[in-house]
Amino acid sequence: MITIISGTNRKDSVTKQLALQYQKILKNHGEDPKIIDLEELPKDFIYSALYEKQGTNPEFNPIRELMKESQKYVFIVPEYNGSFPGILKTFLDALEFPDTLRGKKCAMIGLSAGMQGGVMAMSHLTDIFNYLGMHVLALKPKLTHISSKMKDGEVVDKSDLEFIEVQAKSIIEF
Ligand SMILES: Cc1cc2nc3c(=O)[nH]c(=O)nc-3n(C[C@H](O)[C@H](O)[C@H](O)COP(=O)(O)O)c2cc1C
Repeated sequence: MITIISGTNRKDSVTKQLALQYQKILKNHGEDPKIIDLEELPKDFIYSALYEKQGTNPEFNPIRELMKESQKYVFIVPEYNGSFPGILKTFLDALEFPDTLRGKKCAMIGLSAGMQGGVMAMSHLTDIFNYLGMHVLALKPKLTHISSKMKDGEVVDKSDLEFIEVQAKSIIEF
């Protein structure tokens, strides 16, 4: 089972649009991925789902369980301040350690307003996932200057789409 994580809680994010497009692409390949949208985390998440309160938030627990049950993930990673969003790290900190991600597999795709396409964001995240024992697919598309690559809420850039397509097939076979 593949789960897509939309890696920001920013309202109307491009990340969410890309998560929905990625879901469609995986569906075209016969998968039925769910999306975890960090915008839908409980509003009091940082006070009620971490540390001594781990596992006690009834609103967050189904999301935590879905992360535990999933065998593979696709992380959609926007570039914020040269890295990935803090909310994504906080989300990871709220998962059951060490078994949620250990031995599992993931792919990631970066996007940014500027010219880096989340390259450092994905590098930082890869370090964390490898530390946690998760295998990261080597192909990591970098969607630079994202607003120029989108039309009607979807990526239309031909070369980006080719990378996404190859990556989608690869995570299924990974
Ligand atoms: C807090 C914050 C920090 C950001 N930092 C960067 C950055 O370091 N480099 C960059 O190219 N774009 C940066 N951006 C722009 C995002 O990459 C851009 O909004 C892109 O659409 C992906 O983010 P989104 O999913 O929130 O839309 C930043 C955006 C926010 C909200």
